[in-house]
Amino acid sequence: MKTLVITGASSGIGLRTAAAFLDLGYEVVNLSRRRCPLDKVTHVNCDLSQPGFMEVIAPVMQPMLERSSEIALIHNASRLTNDSAVETPSNTLRAVLEVNVVAPNSLNYFVIPYMKPGSSILFVASTLAEKAVPGSFCYVTSKHATIGMMRALTQDLAGRGIHTAAVCPGFTDTEMLRQHVPADAMDIVRNMSAFGRLITPDEIADTLVFAARSPVLNGAVIHASLGQVER
Ligand SMILES: NC(=O)c1ccc[n+]([C@@H]2O[C@H](COP(=O)([O-])OP(=O)(O)OC[C@H]3O[C@@H](n4cnc5c(N)ncnc54)[C@H](OP(=O)(O)O)[C@@H]3O)[C@@H](O)[C@H]2O)c1
Repeated sequence: MKTLVITGASSGIGLRTAAAFLDLGYEVVNLSRRRCPLDKVTHVNCDLSQPGFMEVIAPVMQPMLERSSEIALIHNASRLTNDSAVETPSNTLRAVLEVNVVAPNSLNYFVIPYMKPGSSILFVASTLAEKAVPGSFCYVTSKHATIGMMRALTQDLAGRGIHTAAVCPGFTDTEMLRQHVPADAMDIVRNMSAFGRLITPDEIADTLVFAARSPVLNGAVIHASLGQVER
């Protein structure tokens, strides 16, 4: 049995990724606060902002992981805040890092011992993992850390047959984008892509499927942005 463990499959990219892996015959386990709307997905209710979340869900996860011949672990959930590097209190930064950086490590710590060769650890990062824009301090910082974590894993997993990669979406049509970008600014955002449109969550899901099946990508940072137009 192949298993996908994914965070944040209640909406957006995570939801479409769960659907894509179901189509391939994977058992899919979603970790988030709201349920994944797909009936076949096993929902494990969890709030990644709570430092002890892993102890709460470990007993539910363990039997599923034990019977998996191959596990794809996808760190997809994240928090996006509007804040400035000049005036953000450290508690705000700490809270974002808890969800975007510390929670993935807690999951890695728990899941890696069950991973057999052929398994993968994938991160949904962002174009903001390798560049910064004004007003996204905590997000930019955490997404850069995501790349660091992925690369460190590549080094420390060497020889175990487990590969890693980070997929960096550009502007993708999800709740997160709509909450972040006012409706009247959406046309500007569309035109920041070389194709003049938003990315669909399915396009990112397909990229994640490809990454999970491609050990040759071990350690890769994969930009999935339709080509952003730099001004
Ligand atoms: N959309 C874009 O333009 C874009 C661009 C670059 C990168 N990304 C990245 O893509 C990934 C997916 O985002 P999306 O665009 O698909 O947004 P989304 O539709 O808003 O989904 C975000 C997911 O994260 C989960 N989540 C957030 N906080 C959580 C918490 N404390 N505990 C558990 N789950 C939590 C949410 O689940 P619950 O609310 O149910 O808990 C939700 O399923 C994120 O890593 C994001 O940074 C998105």
